[in-house]
Amino acid sequence: MRGDRRSIFSGIESLARRRSALLQIIDGPNPLEVQVQRIVSPTEAVIGGRPTRLFGTNNYLGMTFEPEVMHAAAAAIAASGVGTTASRVASGNLPDHYELESEIASFVGKRGAVVFSTGFQANLGTLAGLCGAGDVIVLDEESHASIYDAVTTSAARKVKFRHNDLAHLRKQLGEIQEDMSRVLIVVESVYSAIGDVAPLVEIARLKSEFGCNLLVDEAHSIGMFGQGGAGLAHELGIADQVDVITGTFSKSFGLMGGFAASDHPDFFCLRYSARAFMFTAALPPPVVAAIRASLAKIRGADEKRARLWRNVDHLRGGLRARGYNTLDARSPVVPMIFDDLGACYTLWKSLLLNGFYANLLMPPSTPRGACVIRFSVCSEHRPEDIDALLAAIDAVMDAQRRGARERDERAYVSTAGIVVATGGAPAGPAPRSGAAGV
Ligand SMILES: Cc1ncc(COP(=O)(O)O)c(C=O)c1O
Repeated sequence: MRGDRRSIFSGIESLARRRSALLQIIDGPNPLEVQVQRIVSPTEAVIGGRPTRLFGTNNYLGMTFEPEVMHAAAAAIAASGVGTTASRVASGNLPDHYELESEIASFVGKRGAVVFSTGFQANLGTLAGLCGAGDVIVLDEESHASIYDAVTTSAARKVKFRHNDLAHLRKQLGEIQEDMSRVLIVVESVYSAIGDVAPLVEIARLKSEFGCNLLVDEAHSIGMFGQGGAGLAHELGIADQVDVITGTFSKSFGLMGGFAASDHPDFFCLRYSARAFMFTAALPPPVVAAIRASLAKIRGADEKRARLWRNVDHLRGGLRARGYNTLDARSPVVPMIFDDLGACYTLWKSLLLNGFYANLLMPPSTPRGACVIRFSVCSEHRPEDIDALLAAIDAVMDAQRRGARERDERAYVSTAGIVVATGGAPAGPAPRSGAAGV
């Protein structure tokens, strides 16, 4: 394919052709280009002129409209303006930047932290700032794009292991010839596409056994897991075996930015080796102030966390009770997994047109070619929001089943009183037993 490229634009030209073909097939909105007219609250927006309940935002704790957080941002604008206009190395550090770094370090129980302008840059800057030629990064094959890009940028040797497969991780570690102090295992605590959780305790055990290093990206777990929301590594009691924790402020914190934290005494010098820190504009005053306010809120947000987990159980339990293929994982991401893109898209579109926004994930960006409707749950969803979502799913799936039955009935051929069925299986999600296979 690369050999067929005629110009630097060939790649996007081919994507444009695929996009047009897709738009001709799908009879409805483009799942990658949904236009949100107005965001009303953490759980509501106006989309296509309709009031819409949001189930696809990663706004797990509803912080985007939290009054203290909004007020902190407004006060910081009044005091310091809206932007930094350069990197911290060039335009200087606000007291809030340093305060945030020490607060986030103490939050995740590490000696020091460096704050980046996005979660993507936190992974990019940290991996490429720590590792280089001669080092080895051993990563889960379903790692986030920021981790893949970081490995490429770092020039370290890349070794992949099958998703959450401990035996394969052990095998890959066993085959490494390099000095184990130059090896870094990289995993996420919760994988964002379908919300499955890494076996962190066992991974930390392997790290100790082989004497290598471990980085855990807590993007989808910080705020929700562990005492005060400190993350899954804390909840599982292995945080002190994790050499570097990375995370983002764009999900449970409701803002943007990212961080890396470690006990290494010289970790602060990452800011001189991480190009994604040095050569990009620093987080602006309102964002840093709002992250600090959000962090303070998150630490005491036990009620929000309890509501979030009740909502997760409500939605996941409702899907399971109906026999849909969802995962058996404790995670704020609840997937509905299909083996047929048509049925998956029809449900996604019908939900959107009926006032429910979720994420539609499809190959090639999904694990093992699955088609997924991904629901992300928020502490601020009311039980009636989830009941309404389940009722809407029922209505769409019933209509799909009715339509499939009618198509099958039309295909029945009656021959001298003998009825022969020629129809295929009705459209719908893969059987639940397939969940583990995704
Ligand atoms: C696991 C993981 N790491 C990093 C990121 C990047 O975070 P951000 O969107 O804040 O740049 C994401 C975002 O989707 C993620 O899911």
